[in-house]
Amino acid sequence: MSAPAVATGRTLVVEALSAGYGDTQVLWDVTLRIDPGEIVALIGSNCAGKSTLLGAISGVVKTWSGSVCYGDQTLTGLEPDRIVRAGVLQVPQGRRLFGSLTVEENLRMGAYLRTDRDVEPDLERILGLLPRLRERYDYLAGRLSGGEQQQVAIARALMGRPQLLLIDEMSLGLAPVLVDSLIALLEQIHQTGVSILIVEQDVQTALEVSSRAYVLETGRITLSGPSAELLDDPQVKKAYLGV
Ligand SMILES: Nc1ncnc2c1ncn2[C@@H]1O[C@H](COP(=O)(O)OP(=O)(O)OP(=O)(O)O)[C@@H](O)[C@H]1O
Ligand SMILES: [Mg+2]
Repeated sequence: MSAPAVATGRTLVVEALSAGYGDTQVLWDVTLRIDPGEIVALIGSNCAGKSTLLGAISGVVKTWSGSVCYGDQTLTGLEPDRIVRAGVLQVPQGRRLFGSLTVEENLRMGAYLRTDRDVEPDLERILGLLPRLRERYDYLAGRLSGGEQQQVAIARALMGRPQLLLIDEMSLGLAPVLVDSLIALLEQIHQTGVSILIVEQDVQTALEVSSRAYVLETGRITLSGPSAELLDDPQVKKAYLGV
């Protein structure tokens, strides 16, 4: 994947981060970075802690120790809305749409923190990227197909003007042809300068679309490197690619 001509974001640095729920520790000393304009993949088995890590970055999971910095801004301990304002947005696992609201209402919800005047032009731009959503504009989100719902989830995040997009299990439950079209969409978003952290159980796809990747196993980063090398790594092949 080639780097975009302009990268708008800053470098995200997660340093020795530990976190969990109640007394149960899930993440142990996780360190990773995402440079401006990168697509980075995070792979790992069920329950490895991938969503917990995204939650800790976006402020919905409390960090026990360690830090998350975005450029010179410390995100650790900030409320989720402050992290959104900093330009770091998550597309959550399971999409979490407002099923009884329309596509339009869901998209507008994505801009609720914005005070600038560019919401309408952004909406137009995003609908230009996702013509299917224009056709479904007045439909209730809960009535859409899985692929369409995932498009709404991504579009809603775009309405928040991300510099860094954290995408959790985008392809789960979707047919390969839909996954391909969502990956093409991510590439278009990436070309506008947005950095992306992609969390995927579809490891092959995640490694193909990203330039670098991290492997998370039971809450610890056990391997990292250029995605092309990980695709060839015997350990990765055996554990995640089934070859
Ligand atoms: N809200 C929560 N409260 C308590 N425990 C949780 C919570 N969310 C996740 N966990 C636990 O934390 C561990 C890591 O879960 P997490 O969802 O981060 O893994 P994951 O790698 O995203 O898994 P999956 O591939 O299934 O999405 C699991 O043991 C899970 O049961
Ligand atoms: Mg998860």
